[in-house]
Amino acid sequence: MKSEEEILRILKAELSEYRMSHILGVVGEAERLAGAHGVDPEKARMAALLHDSTKEQSTEDQLQILKECGILLEEGMLDCPQILHAVSGSARAVRDFDAPEDIASAIRWHATGRAGMTKLDMVIYLADLTEPTRRFAHDEDTEKLRRLSYRSLEAASAYEAELTIERETRKGRVIWHDTMETYQEYLPYLEKSEE
Ligand SMILES: [Fe+2]
Ligand SMILES: [Fe+2]
Repeated sequence: MKSEEEILRILKAELSEYRMSHILGVVGEAERLAGAHGVDPEKARMAALLHDSTKEQSTEDQLQILKECGILLEEGMLDCPQILHAVSGSARAVRDFDAPEDIASAIRWHATGRAGMTKLDMVIYLADLTEPTRRFAHDEDTEKLRRLSYRSLEAASAYEAELTIERETRKGRVIWHDTMETYQEYLPYLEKSEE
């Protein structure tokens, strides 16, 4: 895999300052969270660094990456535009930066979660929302999510899915099935943590 330094140089040339500060926020938070749960902190840093690498690319450019990598887009995914960058970002991480499978997986699922996440998947899914530069970093919900994330990755994943479902419903957007499945799969952990 390419070095962190080299990846950082490439991303800085492509992305806005706003995006870079979010990415670096996720790098720090993912590393801390990984450390708390026995997940390789280096892997967490690299997955975080690459998780939004295509977020500022046009839909067309992202579809081109998928085409070149032979990845088919699931039907209906373009109706959920915030998910595409997770799929294209994961494909690009492998193609351009030689990312191994576990890192590609964490990038692939960071926007929706899924049933059967690895610990590394959950670390990136959670840190994406709880990193300190987020506009909503100190909202009550986010503070609760962050606290929960250090106690149980699974319980926190259910809570993040719940927050996402509520938010997307309020905005009248489509709830992607992987988010529903994340909620269903991890809800028992959340219920247990609230007992
Ligand atoms: Fe993202
Ligand atoms: Fe992100």
